[in-house]
Amino acid sequence: MTAVNYRELVSQAKALIEDVPHLTANLANTASLIYHTLPEINWAGFYLSQGDMLVLGPFQGRPACVEIPYGKGVCGTAAGEDRTLLVPDVHRFASHIACDSASRSELVIPLHSRGRVVGVLDIDSPVTARFSEEDRDGLAALTAVVEQALFA
Ligand code: SME
Repeated sequence: MTAVNYRELVSQAKALIEDVPHLTANLANTASLIYHTLPEINWAGFYLSQGDMLVLGPFQGRPACVEIPYGKGVCGTAAGEDRTLLVPDVHRFASHIACDSASRSELVIPLHSRGRVVGVLDIDSPVTARFSEEDRDGLAALTAVVEQALFA
């Protein structure tokens, strides 16, 4: 599989969202950029926090579940525990929520504002163990750009 040039992806994201004062538009463009850049993924998008619930935000891929309580599924666990989760096989993650039955592996990175979790970036793949540590680190850098531009 061709490696993603994360340095380039991060500068493309910066160019797309910096100086654009519209949260929904910026999250939508970021989801599109990820979806059309990373090979072998079937969903890329955001869930945003409302109280102790995650609510579906801008994404690319098949329609997804709208509400995920903190602590449930990969997304709710990442948000509740405030940690990045790289899940090589979602069928081995007890509370995984299957929005698309084709999904096999998943990467979820929390988004912060002033030290608090305000949502997550969620990326799904139909390939088992699709995400490497390089993907995790590259997408963490992208998440930092999103946090700075949108939630500062
Ligand atoms: N699989 C996620 C739910 C969101 S969808 O994958 C888009 C989870 O277990 O939290």
